[in-house]
Amino acid sequence: MIIRKVTIDDWKILLSWRNDIITRKNSHNMELIKEESHKKWMLSILKNINRKLFIAIENEKAVGTVRADFEEKTKSYELSWTISPDFRGKGIGKKMLKLICINLNAKVKAEIKKENIASIKIAEFAGLKLKKNIKGVLHYSN
Ligand SMILES: CC(C)(COP(=O)(O)OP(=O)(O)OC[C@H]1O[C@@H](n2cnc3c(N)ncnc32)[C@H](O)[C@@H]1OP(=O)(O)O)[C@@H](O)C(=O)NCCC(=O)NCCS
Repeated sequence: MIIRKVTIDDWKILLSWRNDIITRKNSHNMELIKEESHKKWMLSILKNINRKLFIAIENEKAVGTVRADFEEKTKSYELSWTISPDFRGKGIGKKMLKLICINLNAKVKAEIKKENIASIKIAEFAGLKLKKNIKGVLHYSN
């Protein structure tokens, strides 16, 4: 697996993953995102030095994405991830998040809905530990 930075040319695939019904169910913001607002969001991330957007490539196919937002106060990255609907359930999420954590080599955290069993396993596989449960949202960090 290769991890590279996202470019604006990746907008279409990222939007299709973001608007997938399971992604929306597991996100804080569950609304359908429109093309224009998605492109604006991507451009703002790409020029923000505190936000990093990665895409994972396996066998020359884009299989997943991770966003890492640096939080000055805690000096840590808040992570959020999605696997392409075509490649779920194949261990790619575990592999991708572990690789990202190794590459970032920093404090990281993630908020996961308690029903999202696959993401809980992914976080634990990457070395994150459960710190608190706030109204069914699990706060993980390393
Ligand atoms: C959640 C998500 C990231 C999982 O990615 P994935 O590549 O399919 O996960 P993996 O194949 O690495 O599986 C990780 C573990 O979860 C298990 N798993 C996978 N899908 C599962 C499901 N739907 N229900 C229960 N367990 C599941 C796997 O068996 C594996 O368990 P193991 O470690 O015991 O073998 C992916 O489904 C996704 O993108 N969902 C939508 C977005 C999302 O939820 N993002 C996370 C927000 S915090």
